[in-house]
Amino acid sequence: MSLDKFKLAVLVSGRGSNLQAIIDSIERNELNVHLSAVLSDTEDALALKRAEKHGIETFFINPATYHNRKAFDKAMINRLRAMSIDLICLAGYMRILGKEFIQAFSGKIINIHPSLLPAFPGLNAQKQAIEYGVKFSGCTAHFVDEKVDSGPIILQTAVPVYDHDNEESLSQRILEQEHHIYPKAIKLIAENKLNLNNRTVTHKKS
Ligand code: GRF
Repeated sequence: MSLDKFKLAVLVSGRGSNLQAIIDSIERNELNVHLSAVLSDTEDALALKRAEKHGIETFFINPATYHNRKAFDKAMINRLRAMSIDLICLAGYMRILGKEFIQAFSGKIINIHPSLLPAFPGLNAQKQAIEYGVKFSGCTAHFVDEKVDSGPIILQTAVPVYDHDNEESLSQRILEQEHHIYPKAIKLIAENKLNLNNRTVTHKKS
């Protein structure tokens, strides 16, 4: 690894298909970053196994061993600081980040969400979309701020919602697009190609 390579950490809790998309993108040389570590709050997360398979360092940080969220967040902060991480990607990480965590890495945390934000923030976004009756939904890669699913939007892709869709079929259609836009969003940041004005993200003119 070259010393000045952009360093990424991915935070996960479960399946890890977005993590896999990031790993694949790095291995195809489309994304020129170093994936320094995968951190999980769940011991048996499939995502950890995916990372291990590719020789990526993993950490299970057990929430049960910390007396509150602040102490847990502090352990995460220390671990990430020790590795001089440039960007933290949430990929199915099910824990809400505390203020200290977000301030410690201000502007350096991104997330992927399965709806066209600001529609349907929070849990079960695909179910919310079906129940609302929208004809399009999609996914959003965004910076993380102190509110849930509310930070500046980096990339979005829309997908149609069909009459016969259920939560599962819509989730699958959206997930395929997540796997495209999340590595792309990371690449734009790693290559310093974005401007951020208030909450508007624009592409730098080359
Ligand atoms: C994805 O739908 C993502 O948008 C949401 O959580 C899910 C994680 O899936 N934040 P995976 O663990 O990446 O497969």
